[in-house]
Amino acid sequence: MDEGKLATMKFPKSQHALTELKSDPAVLSIIKYFTEKVDQEEAFYICNLNDIIERHDMWKYYLPNVAPYYAVKCHDDKHVLEVMTSKGINFDCASKAEISKVLSTGCSTDRIIFANPAKPIGHIKFAAEVGVNTMTFDNESELVKIQKLYPSASLVIRIKCEAIDAVRPLGKKFGCDPVKEVPRLLRLAESLNLNVIGVSFHVGSGCREPEVFWRAISEARNIFNYASTFGYKFTLLDIGGGYPGGHGTSIKKIAGIVNSALDTYFHDLPDVKYIAEPGRYFVTSAYTLTCNIYSIRNIYDENNNEITHKMYYINEGVYGSFNRILRAHRTLDPITLSKKPDLDKSKHMSSSIWGPSCDGLDQLVEDMELPDLEVGDWMVFEDMGAYTLSAGCAFNGFPLPKVHYCITQNEWLNVKDTLSLPKAKLIIVNEKEPKLETFESAYDKCRI
Ligand SMILES: Cc1ncc(COP(=O)(O)O)c(C=O)c1O
Repeated sequence: MDEGKLATMKFPKSQHALTELKSDPAVLSIIKYFTEKVDQEEAFYICNLNDIIERHDMWKYYLPNVAPYYAVKCHDDKHVLEVMTSKGINFDCASKAEISKVLSTGCSTDRIIFANPAKPIGHIKFAAEVGVNTMTFDNESELVKIQKLYPSASLVIRIKCEAIDAVRPLGKKFGCDPVKEVPRLLRLAESLNLNVIGVSFHVGSGCREPEVFWRAISEARNIFNYASTFGYKFTLLDIGGGYPGGHGTSIKKIAGIVNSALDTYFHDLPDVKYIAEPGRYFVTSAYTLTCNIYSIRNIYDENNNEITHKMYYINEGVYGSFNRILRAHRTLDPITLSKKPDLDKSKHMSSSIWGPSCDGLDQLVEDMELPDLEVGDWMVFEDMGAYTLSAGCAFNGFPLPKVHYCITQNEWLNVKDTLSLPKAKLIIVNEKEPKLETFESAYDKCRI
């Protein structure tokens, strides 16, 4: 299967497509429908469930020997988890609540790794109760706790191996040093009679140095060898997260490096199972957020004659879906939808974009050129699936946006037994031709 074929859009071309957007034409049609035809003012998401399924196909194509365990922290949307369960994707959970949520989708416990190296006692007890057996560790206190609470657990030692460049490095908080700490920890595990079964690492979320996977896999092999001197026969290699998500990204390069590193360092260990914990890879491009401009403040020149800058207030901010701006200083790239038919897009002016809370920190864009927009116009933000809703809150009483889900009829048939969302609340996209009426009936039933 070639990449071009996989990337073929399953949705029909819409005559209403907002050509500037990279999202699927069906998503664009739905946005157009909600913003033009429906009396709508709240911000809203469209989640394209097909996008997640296509990402999974792509994963299987590039990394056929590495089983994906989706990192639930990235976005714990129940319906997305249900689709993943149905498609055979496994899960990386960091807490009791994440484990419960995944189990509620009908997923079995053997498809979950409890991949939080530092776990509260109650969460370990819960894992023991429900039988989530595989868990990571990187310090002595975890071994002591696990020995008391869940001595039959299968343990994975998390080592540190960081990319030179990543959006969110994790090495300061997690992962033990392969040379200085691993020997001490394995000695303790052995003395406590614990079952260590493998090695994990996370090179950093939003990794921008694919070559780090080579170093990490080679380091992991050293630890497999070292552990065998204690009598441990490791059977699991967990290559963590860090894979890019979003439109226009690909795991091709990382996959090439991972596959050759596995060939080079692990070809003589055929019983080893390879897993990964992709988060943003799976969900980033599936979510498109549309926000309403509800207030505008004009800033005038010193003579008070001409507008020199416009401040746009929109109904989602840094305490909600845009929390990554505070954490990772991300820049945004909104697409504007104006009601003015004659809007001259060449006439841009200096503008800033602000979220709805009363906090001065709640600024989304400091200064960018935008067309002259009005109250009631919209801004669309793509690639909004990762670490957005899962990490946001309704500060100041501004609720997180509602999500509308769309899926093609074919895929709906495949996942309907696991999906708790009734068909009436889904936007079923006709694969042959776009039918806005189906959006209308779906919308009537799930009105905000
Ligand atoms: C243990 C673990 N696994 C997986 C992930 C997912 O990482 P990403 O979204 O970069 O794939 C994270 C992110 O913080 C993590 O902490």
